[in-house]
Amino acid sequence: MSDDIFSGKKIILGITGCIAAYKSAILLRELIKRGADVKVVMTPSATEFIAPLTLSTLSKHEVIINIFPQSQKNGTALSTWHIDYAVWADLMIIAPSTVNTIAKIAHGFADNALTTLVSALRCPLLIAPAADVDMYENKITQQNIYTLEENGIYIIHAEEGELASGLSGKGRFPEIDKIIDASELILSGYKKDLAAKKILVTAGPTYEDIDPVRFIGNRSSGKMGFEIAKSAFLRGANVTLISGPVREKIYPEINFIKVRSANEMKKEVEKELKGNEVLIMSAAVADYKPSTVSNKKIKKEDKLTSIKLTETSDILASIEKKDKIVVGFALETDNELKNASKKLISKNLDMIVLNSLKDMKSGFEVDTNKITIIKKTGKQIKFPLMSKFQAANKILTEIIKIKNQKIVF
Ligand code: CTP
Repeated sequence: MSDDIFSGKKIILGITGCIAAYKSAILLRELIKRGADVKVVMTPSATEFIAPLTLSTLSKHEVIINIFPQSQKNGTALSTWHIDYAVWADLMIIAPSTVNTIAKIAHGFADNALTTLVSALRCPLLIAPAADVDMYENKITQQNIYTLEENGIYIIHAEEGELASGLSGKGRFPEIDKIIDASELILSGYKKDLAAKKILVTAGPTYEDIDPVRFIGNRSSGKMGFEIAKSAFLRGANVTLISGPVREKIYPEINFIKVRSANEMKKEVEKELKGNEVLIMSAAVADYKPSTVSNKKIKKEDKLTSIKLTETSDILASIEKKDKIVVGFALETDNELKNASKKLISKNLDMIVLNSLKDMKSGFEVDTNKITIIKKTGKQIKFPLMSKFQAANKILTEIIKIKNQKIVF
């Protein structure tokens, strides 16, 4: 069996009547690709936007639209389908959800198949609203969304951008990736336990220029730091991500600052640190840079045989840590625990995350990691090989456990 958290999970996908409903087919396909068993329930108006046949073909289940479904008409097989579904499911996702369905759920209505099912639900519920800007920002809609969150329903707030009407503003349906990530988060047992916390994350390599064409860099892909930033956001935090050059994508709500060199990263970290409570320094910062940068391309006939290097300044070691929780990373090839513990002490950190390059599936350019967390107290927690998403959440959970007089989680 696959170790993907979605594998074998039972998910109900609820779809309501809004233009973003056409994207639900992609969400459904993605959930199935990850190994989930998905049953679809639609509101009658959702069928105006996407054909039930598309969804039943993809899900390989009957799509339920009416409280009295088609298959029930000739018998009693599905007479309590809403209860059966509610008991069956590990997770229900309503994506997209109209403001109408949000209002109904917030007030306990059970007047169609979808809302009836929600009223009986035992598993977590994730809702991704989508609407035009004025409908979404409407005070009553916002109050209803607040009510849902207060009642433990996980909301992926709509994004800002161009809308189907031609207007621009808040109301956009999120990227499918974000819904998948939030589903993974919930299925893994996490919730918005970092609400309103201000977290600064660094990621990626730094590039130290030699001339306008060449640089000294390293193999960091930035994946670990990006997964930490995304997970912290999904757990409710306000996140700033400072990254060296990488190819990873990030959510639009994350304050993203792109840098190139160790020097630039240091300046940005110092600037941003003031407004943040936690710093997670997962960037692979260069320890050395060329002493001089040629402003012209160095030619072959220049017969360059060596490059003089100067040490960069150590960001973690030098920053002001008062009242902050500061977490470092250590990538080691030998004497791992000893070297990481040494860094934890010398850089005065609250916690250090050690990843070893000894494991083939751990470290650079892969989606998995094998980490050991070492706390200031000396406590060590060894984790098995897991996805960087899962590792990111283990790290965040351990940060929450750190006692800090100024930061209350
Ligand atoms: N780090 C930093 N500034 C630097 C170098 C590293 O802030 N100039 C941070 C990294 O982001 C990481 C931690 O320090 O969180 C440890 O980085 P690492 O490269 O493992 O350690 P170094 O101190 O550079 O030691 P070495 O390269 O000798 O292992």
